[in-house]
Amino acid sequence: MSEPLNVAEYERLAQERLDPGAFGYFLGGAGDEWTLRENVAAFNRWVLRPRMLVDVGTVTTRTTVLDADLSMPVLVAPTALQRLAHPDGEAATARGAAAAGTVFCLSTLASLSPAELAAAAPEGRHWFQLYCSRDRGFTSELVAAAGEAGFSAILLTVDLPVAGRRERDLRAAFEIPDDLPLPNLSRHLGGGNFHDALGDVVDPTITWRDLEWLASLTDLPIVVKGILTSEDARLACQHGVAGVVVSNHGGRQLDGAAASLDALPEVVETCAGEVTVLLDGGVRRGSDVVKALALGARAVLVGRAPLWGLVVDGEDGVRRVLELLREEVALGLTLLGCSSPEAVTPAHVGRPG
Ligand SMILES: Cc1cc2nc3c(=O)[nH]c(=O)nc-3n(C[C@H](O)[C@H](O)[C@H](O)COP(=O)(O)O)c2cc1C
Repeated sequence: MSEPLNVAEYERLAQERLDPGAFGYFLGGAGDEWTLRENVAAFNRWVLRPRMLVDVGTVTTRTTVLDADLSMPVLVAPTALQRLAHPDGEAATARGAAAAGTVFCLSTLASLSPAELAAAAPEGRHWFQLYCSRDRGFTSELVAAAGEAGFSAILLTVDLPVAGRRERDLRAAFEIPDDLPLPNLSRHLGGGNFHDALGDVVDPTITWRDLEWLASLTDLPIVVKGILTSEDARLACQHGVAGVVVSNHGGRQLDGAAASLDALPEVVETCAGEVTVLLDGGVRRGSDVVKALALGARAVLVGRAPLWGLVVDGEDGVRRVLELLREEVALGLTLLGCSSPEAVTPAHVGRPG
């Protein structure tokens, strides 16, 4: 294939290059993968309502998220084990995101500590994704380490008290290689059944009260990732978060949960005036980004899309995937009659028919 033109073509190339176990780990979801498919399908249940004869001589994709200037309303979601995608792993993804002018989220399940990542990608803006461990002392040191390394937010993932049942991984007997460094965990994880190992990383007893404890540890803004209901959106606001990510973990946790885009309106209605609302899950095209903006998201995160770029061409592949998305967002805004992400309104989407 000549140079890939879109995210789907990057995915196809990544499949050719990765061993089937690792590809299945990156691609797959939980159970029947219904939620995984719904994340993508939900975007097709909305149509864009373009407005004509609007001056679109100058269009920008730039926006701000938590006071940071970004080149576009697209951030790189935290995804684990990136060294299985490319030897340069998280360092390459962070550099690619920095080159594309957006935020990179470092997973707790990364092969670099916050300080190592900051040294590898000093130009970038980084958020740290936290899984709260049973060892609270360890977790508080990790949060402090992210602050000291110059990270600008803590992204607390709340939809993984235990790992979802990912049958592709079970079928492929996917295991974490024994020699893969995972410095942000309190104990060694390699070489076992991945599903069980993942369950060990997170304390399943944490509640909203622990969010108060977390907030007491750091001055960094806290963003809660994995909100799907207005009830939890309300609780998040009451606990002083800076933002929420409407997310079902890319369909990898509770199969049968709503597509992120379907859950977005109730969260927006509950708290968009108070905190920053982000969305992830199923974003593959610039038009998806624009639809999410129209339904009230400030920006979206992409998980698998940059991973496919990472597999195909390391840092350059990540940058290219993000640039493709940025170009698609720019074209989408222009043809929609919007000169910036902020100009997109609920009237720019509707139901088909
Ligand atoms: C391979 C893979 C690993 C992931 N690892 C993490 C993780 O370590 N922490 C986390 O909060 N979310 C993780 N996620 C979820 C992503 O942050 C994000 O919610 C999801 O990928 C968005 O859906 P998309 O892949 O359709 O863009 C992971 C997703 C994938 C695909």
